[in-house]
Amino acid sequence: MKITRRAALKTTTLAAATLALRGSRLFSQSSTQVDAHIEILPAEPIATISPEIYSHFIEQLGGVVYDGVWVGPDSKIPNVNGIRKSFIDTMRAVQAPVLRWPGGCFADSYDWRDGIGPRRPARAGFWSQQDSNQYGLHEFMHTCRAIGCKPYLAADVRSLPARDFYQEIEYCNAPAGNVPSNSAAPSFPNALAAQRAANGDPEPFNVDLWGVGNESWGCGGNMTPEEYAAEFRKFTAWTPSYSRTPLRFVAVGPNGDDVDWTRRLFKSLYANSERRHLWGLSVHYYTSGSPTKFADGDALKFTPDEHYDLLTRGSIMERVITDHWSTMAQTAEPGQPQVKLVVDEWGAWYGKGTQLAPEYNLSQQSTMRDALLTGITLDIFQRHCDKVAVAAVAQSINCIHSLMLAQGDKFTVTPTFHVFQMYLPHRGGQAVRAEFSTAAIPNPMANQPIPAGGNSYTGSLEAVKTLAGLSGSASISPTNPKLMTLTVVNPHLDKPLTTEIAIAGATISSYTGTVLAEQDIHAHNDFAHPDAVKPRPATTAAITAGRAIHTFPPASVTTLQLTLA
Ligand code: AHR
Repeated sequence: MKITRRAALKTTTLAAATLALRGSRLFSQSSTQVDAHIEILPAEPIATISPEIYSHFIEQLGGVVYDGVWVGPDSKIPNVNGIRKSFIDTMRAVQAPVLRWPGGCFADSYDWRDGIGPRRPARAGFWSQQDSNQYGLHEFMHTCRAIGCKPYLAADVRSLPARDFYQEIEYCNAPAGNVPSNSAAPSFPNALAAQRAANGDPEPFNVDLWGVGNESWGCGGNMTPEEYAAEFRKFTAWTPSYSRTPLRFVAVGPNGDDVDWTRRLFKSLYANSERRHLWGLSVHYYTSGSPTKFADGDALKFTPDEHYDLLTRGSIMERVITDHWSTMAQTAEPGQPQVKLVVDEWGAWYGKGTQLAPEYNLSQQSTMRDALLTGITLDIFQRHCDKVAVAAVAQSINCIHSLMLAQGDKFTVTPTFHVFQMYLPHRGGQAVRAEFSTAAIPNPMANQPIPAGGNSYTGSLEAVKTLAGLSGSASISPTNPKLMTLTVVNPHLDKPLTTEIAIAGATISSYTGTVLAEQDIHAHNDFAHPDAVKPRPATTAAITAGRAIHTFPPASVTTLQLTLA
């Protein structure tokens, strides 16, 4: 389906009206007519951008692990000890920092012992599929090693006792060989470390990031915040420790913007002052593909109005973050370490229609619209990198908001992959505030409540009326204070935005850029056309009086690298 000129004009006219109302400047310092201004404020630092906000997630679900990640060592598909080589290469290409596993909802029915050693019992898995358990803890750790990323494990809180969690930590982290003890007993080998060594990995996995359950308000046990707080305390009251650096425990947080969950959870947790190592609060926010129903709508067929509406609803990730941050601040107790947000599931979730095949449950296509949502979301995380420590897109391959699609020997990256790659220069940088001024886009479907949810719970949020006409984020390079990265999303379907870019207190001497933009917002890659959507060098303009006048094409994601004089 093509976006019609009339629909685009309708939006442009409304946007122009808003611009007039806001009285934005239309002329730059150089008297060139511009549509927008970006002012970067290096004197207003936000925080260092943790590379972990570009993390990933895989689950035993549909074709994510089996076929997507794991093809088996005997497969004709190129693999490294059974792991699909193109999966490893692609994750390396985006320098994946952290990979979350085994779920998701799958985690709370999963016994980690089923996936170790030579005998692997096949079991019923959460997503109505048999799990052969061929892919288990060691295979996951080998995947992380091959990628060069850290593992993030989600513990089973619904169906296993806390002791299994302690022993999973011990199995992963106990050192090999004789372990000295603090007691009068002599050193001797830890039995679980010995078992791990017998299963092929003498060296500890050193997992420091642990999710204590998943969506405990839904598939993770249908608990109240008070019930979950009691479980969290039990699971973390004691854990084996092999390092001076405390483990990072992540508590189950809200579904979307459910601040009531967070308020009650923290109140219950603080009711007992022994609150060991609560490091992060998990937040899940999915953007439904449909304005009226959760996890519905078509990934490939959508109207201009639906385009703007989806991006508007996706943009409330910002509200979800700030709402939860202030809720945590309201319940915080003096002297307690600041708990960070861990947005470990996010993405646009569509209904059935574009799956690779029926057994690839929740697989979906991914277009330029999803690339724009990726840019908008990563920019939000960067603007709030003082609050968001980790974020993981759901899920890496053959699933909701994937970077890759694979079926047998067929493989392609999606437009979302390209955005992750284009945002690499931000990682480790110093985020600084940047002001974007242009007309906002009225959300054509703003009269409806926003469907929100996950696999096991849906609700609704208050409607949002406008979408930023231009948004993005800026950071200073960690290695070169004269180099800035600016990422920008222009969501207009038919309107290039000529934009004046200025840096307060500094002048730009030159800049380069990369842009992802297609004529048709529905453009996507598939197995027959894996390069249909890919970035290209941005057309740059001359610098005038230390400012750049850059044109952001319609429906585009752009990365600019600005060199300061
Ligand atoms: O990512 C798919 C599912 O969405 C996850 O298993 C669950 O945590 C969420 O509801």
